[in-house]
Amino acid sequence: MQPRFVHLQSLTESTIFQSDAAAPSCISGGSGKKSRRSDYPRQFPGPYIDKQVRRRRRGPDHIKENHMSGIKDKVVIITGASSGIGEATARILAAHGARVVLGARRTERLETLAGLIRTAGGIAEYQALDVTQRGQLEDIVALAKSRFGRVDVIVNNAGVMPLSTLEQLKVDEWERMVDVNIKGVLYGIAAALPVMQAQGNGQIINVASVGGHRVVPSAAVYCATKFAVRAISDGLRQEVDNIRVTVISPGVTESELADSITDPAAKLGMQAYRKIAISAEAVARTILFAIEQPADVDLSEIVVRPTASAN
Ligand SMILES: NC(=O)c1ccc[n+]([C@@H]2O[C@H](COP(=O)([O-])OP(=O)(O)OC[C@H]3O[C@@H](n4cnc5c(N)ncnc54)[C@H](OP(=O)(O)O)[C@@H]3O)[C@@H](O)[C@H]2O)c1
Repeated sequence: MQPRFVHLQSLTESTIFQSDAAAPSCISGGSGKKSRRSDYPRQFPGPYIDKQVRRRRRGPDHIKENHMSGIKDKVVIITGASSGIGEATARILAAHGARVVLGARRTERLETLAGLIRTAGGIAEYQALDVTQRGQLEDIVALAKSRFGRVDVIVNNAGVMPLSTLEQLKVDEWERMVDVNIKGVLYGIAAALPVMQAQGNGQIINVASVGGHRVVPSAAVYCATKFAVRAISDGLRQEVDNIRVTVISPGVTESELADSITDPAAKLGMQAYRKIAISAEAVARTILFAIEQPADVDLSEIVVRPTASAN
């Protein structure tokens, strides 16, 4: 692995400095002079250098300031908006002036929610969305673009949690968690990122979990999907320097999430665990807070859990 790694590093450096007249003179590929690159942490060569160098070259003003400040008028796509955290997020963001675009499979719920938001004076659109279908993420981004002209934020929130021990071999449920919790987030990124890059700004908020920080029995696959969400988000955060990337990791929260558990033992355990659950609004307020920050401030990760929770 080591020679390949070194090759990648040198590729990255030559790409960066090929057309950079201001490149430090100590970086003189092939001249025999010692490269300053050796001072950088060897385990994270490419992205680290990329982002640092871009920042140095472009300065802090490279983020095209959105004409809107805070939350007002921002166009926010929310996946999994038909219940729980997604629904609460839609309500609170709309109440603070965001234009929300709601997606989920249960469209009758979205219709009701959008109606309530509009009655309260807010702005909401909705569309059927199955996040396991990449094209449907592209469609909802297209809806936001056609209706409002831009996409400021996507909240990749849709998720499922059918817990069980691995020895039960509920392979279909493992696949569903991977498809919704990981691939759904990736498809959301794939659909929104090009639009945000063209705009010169944007924010991608991915909902992970405390299960993305610590594994517990019966939650191996669920936790793996949430570890993956954190890894994907951190990689993206390092690669882009004009788009904010935020991970929200809730602890136990009131919602319908545990309804997808088919294993009786895991369901029982979850009932006890959920007694201290915080409201979905508590997590929604955290998402609002992350969006409200100025364009050059990225709340990259927030854990929000019940005060009484040890995990
Ligand atoms: N509640 C907690 O204790 C807790 C803790 C940590 C993290 N989380 C995370 O928070 C997020 C929201 O969950 P929640 O707690 O609010 O649970 P929830 O009430 O069950 O909401 C889940 C949402 O995801 C949607 N969804 C599921 N499969 C989908 C699919 N294939 N395509 C599109 N949407 C889909 C559901 O809508 P439809 O069924 O209508 O499609 C629903 O709106 C999840 O990512 C979850 O892992 C929750």
